[in-house]
Amino acid sequence: MDWTTIARTLHLIAIVHWIGGLAMVTLVILPGIMRMPQERKLETFLVIEGRFARQAKISVTAAGLTGFYMAHGLVAWERFLDPGYWWMHAMVLIWAIFTFMLFVAEPLFLHAKVTRMVERDPAATFALMLRAHRILLALATVTIGGAALGAHGMLF
Ligand code: HEM
Repeated sequence: MDWTTIARTLHLIAIVHWIGGLAMVTLVILPGIMRMPQERKLETFLVIEGRFARQAKISVTAAGLTGFYMAHGLVAWERFLDPGYWWMHAMVLIWAIFTFMLFVAEPLFLHAKVTRMVERDPAATFALMLRAHRILLALATVTIGGAALGAHGMLF
């Protein structure tokens, strides 16, 4: 049994759920909510984003566990010393950002802060959230491309 290949398969399933969900929120849900009447915006956003955040906690954790398992199985730790493997750094960076947001920032202060900001200036807050989601989605998309090419020896 090739456990590294099983980990790679689970890694990709987790990434599809996590980054696919990010794409759905960024490209469909947030722009849709921004066109809704003011009084329904916050509640709709919190219901949908809260549900996805709970699921994303599982896929982000699974992506991290399988990723580190593969790095161990492929004896790939030295890649982190080589800038040519920028896509390895990018994977860990995106994972670290989401882990921090989902497990630390959101429960400790972000949820309350966003709620306060939306009550004060909904248009500006949703525009800011859309921009932040777009940046993360762009980073994740470049990382997926880099990792798929890099893992199959197509980057150098
Ligand atoms: C702690 C975080 C992560 C670690 C340690 C990690 C580690 C790894 C490792 C070791 C590989 C195999 C590379 C190889 O075969 O040479 C891999 C593959 C891959 N990872 Fe990650 N990863 C992490 C997070 C992510 C994230 C956040 C994404 C997407 C945004 C991602 C997307 C991919 C893709 C697309 C592949 C290529 C699979 C293939 O084509 O065979 N990973 N990852």
